[in-house]
Amino acid sequence: MRPIIEPFRIKSVEPIRMTTREERQQILARAGWNMFKIRAEDVLIDLLTDSGTGAMSAEQWAGIMRGDESYAGARSWFRFEARVKELCGFRHVIPTHQGRAAERILFACLGVTGQVVVANTHFDTTRANVEFLGGRAVDIPVAEARDPQAIHPFKGNMDLGELTRVLAADTGRVVCVLLTVTNNSGGGQPVSMDNIRRVSELSRRAGVPFYLDACRFAENAYFIKTREDGYASRTVESIAREMFSYADGATFSAKKDGLANIGGFLATNDDRLARQEEQLLILTEGFTTYGGLAGRDLEAIAVGLSEVVDEDYLAYRIASTRYLGEGLVKHGFPIVQPPGGHAIYIDAGAFLPHVPPSSFPGQALACAFYEQGGIRGVEVGTLMFGGKSPETGGERTARLELLRLAIPRRVYTQSHVDYVIEVAGELAARRDSIRGFSILEEPPQLRHFSATLQPL
Ligand code: F0G
Repeated sequence: MRPIIEPFRIKSVEPIRMTTREERQQILARAGWNMFKIRAEDVLIDLLTDSGTGAMSAEQWAGIMRGDESYAGARSWFRFEARVKELCGFRHVIPTHQGRAAERILFACLGVTGQVVVANTHFDTTRANVEFLGGRAVDIPVAEARDPQAIHPFKGNMDLGELTRVLAADTGRVVCVLLTVTNNSGGGQPVSMDNIRRVSELSRRAGVPFYLDACRFAENAYFIKTREDGYASRTVESIAREMFSYADGATFSAKKDGLANIGGFLATNDDRLARQEEQLLILTEGFTTYGGLAGRDLEAIAVGLSEVVDEDYLAYRIASTRYLGEGLVKHGFPIVQPPGGHAIYIDAGAFLPHVPPSSFPGQALACAFYEQGGIRGVEVGTLMFGGKSPETGGERTARLELLRLAIPRRVYTQSHVDYVIEVAGELAARRDSIRGFSILEEPPQLRHFSATLQPL
């Protein structure tokens, strides 16, 4: 295979620091074996998240200098609004400081209290925002999505039979149908255009607004281009426009496919809802032409939204993620198949059968990657989703014990990825020596961010 060509050259660099294994052991102990408490300067390859961690282009930095910081009606706002409208086609665009702010405003204005939101899979903050307002978040992915080994081109799809059933059973109670593209919590798997169209039809027929959680829309559009019949000769831009055309609105975190370090938006075709959302925006985020962002951020996003649909970029992006996945598989790591757009999810439960879910196999593997090679990933398993069962006092376990290695955009090269694969090979050779953890201290909510652990 030919090497992956990164379709950019490097103008500005950021040093990363080499550490020794002994140093990393001390750093882990000081951090209570919690990845979120390790200083970034002590990390060699940071795969904690692909959110807000991308590298901006020279054009984006030029946009930063052009940023118009006027409170109302800034030029940067009009450039941002024009690009979002050109791409998504929605009538109203409401800027927010990041994705979850858009979610909060949308769900508050839709009135989710006591009602239901249905999704292929809600991302954590999306679910938390529904539940915080007293709503119920229901996930109905296709059956293949539940099996990490199942190969399916569009494992992010929603189960249409289930959607029909839920819409009929909960008539009048479902206030929103949501497709997360790509499906982050389901392994970064794409949703097909056919599924988007059908979900849209079913929602319209039931009179329920249909939204896209569009954080990774460009990666999803690229998968449609390369995997779905009839799209091979279409541009990613036109595929993305078609995706948005079936929806009544969207929430968006510009920290992913906005290629920016901060920002987001909420968009809708509903005039009445938009007025309500703008009122809440002014109350909690900022005026309607900046929404908690600086003018320079709006510029960076406007440029990013054009660069992200570049097909050389997307070819490199998706190839790079697949290359990491295939390298891990060669060393015997079971991963969520097929490789997704922004991350590889290792099935740590299957890789470390001697570590039971109550001893956090995903966290054990996260710590092992850091200790072995200074690589930081994030556990997505019982540490993140479990907790003490109020009935038994025992540990409630997650359905899967995963380690997510998320790839920042335009940051790492193939040699960085080769290094990650090499470290993984060393871990595979000593997998029996990888031990589990217990929790020493944990907060009542979202414990994975601040818990202190200890090796067993
Ligand atoms: N929706 C999805 C699918 C996401 O992946 C995220 C963030 C959000 C919404 C919220 O956006 O962070 O801008 O408020 N995902 C990050 C991650 C945090 O690491 O996967 P935000």
